[in-house]
Amino acid sequence: MTAKIMDGNALAAQLRADVARRSAQLSARGTPPGLAVVLVGEDPASQVYVGKKVQACQDAGLYSVLERYGADLSEEALLERVAALNADPRIHGILVQLPLPKHIDAQKVIAAIAPEKDVDGFHVASAGALLTGTPGFWSCTPYGCMKLLESTGIDLRGKHAVVIGRSNNVGKPMALMLLQKNATVTICHSATADLKAHTLQADVIVAAVGRRNTVTADMVKPGAVVIDIGMNRNEAGKLCGDVDFATVKEVAGWITPVPGGVGPMTVTMLLVNTVEAAERAAA
Ligand code: GUN
Repeated sequence: MTAKIMDGNALAAQLRADVARRSAQLSARGTPPGLAVVLVGEDPASQVYVGKKVQACQDAGLYSVLERYGADLSEEALLERVAALNADPRIHGILVQLPLPKHIDAQKVIAAIAPEKDVDGFHVASAGALLTGTPGFWSCTPYGCMKLLESTGIDLRGKHAVVIGRSNNVGKPMALMLLQKNATVTICHSATADLKAHTLQADVIVAAVGRRNTVTADMVKPGAVVIDIGMNRNEAGKLCGDVDFATVKEVAGWITPVPGGVGPMTVTMLLVNTVEAAERAAA
């Protein structure tokens, strides 16, 4: 059996076309959706990520600003910038790129973002909204995974989903989103005694660990849906996920490739959240 591929590039293109349409409607009413991206310091990976986010905004017709500061910016000064962006009517979404320099308390900065502009979904108010099933913004990576799952047409009700990883921004919200779709959810993590015993029971596996070959073919039930959130490099420097794609695709029913699976969905869901924030502000 060879798994069907969940094509993140194709789905992202569809969703971005819808974002562009909604953005054009808002712009025609004089309120183009606006995203502010704040980068502190010179972390090379962060510079690439924020560049992609700003470019994606431009491509979809959103207004965007990139604010760049040196690594010596004080926490107080950053909090002042966040307050100014909270008050700026042209800005509907605020994203402070993580990680922040060590002298800045990231939790304090995220807490300072107005929840109605928290398009990253990192604020405790956003986490609480997801927990309670009330309106708020969903963290972009797990939200993108839910869109990929939706694209398969599989009803998650009663399915057993195993999430591997328990981070605040990916693993935990992923589990809550699956639960909201009536899946039976197991969260596995570094202290899980027998990972394979759990994954072999799973109709859906979501791997968000950050370690190559965490999921191998012998750990997957035939026909299962496998989503790979990992972003790792092999010895040759080639991008790879947490799943051994070459062997798992022979067992799984559906699988996401790396690259071209979850990756393109994360920035896409940021655009979706930003246009949603602007629509809510204009309503
Ligand atoms: N750093 C790595 N990924 C992300 C993300 O999705 N949002 C923010 N704010 N920082 C990140």
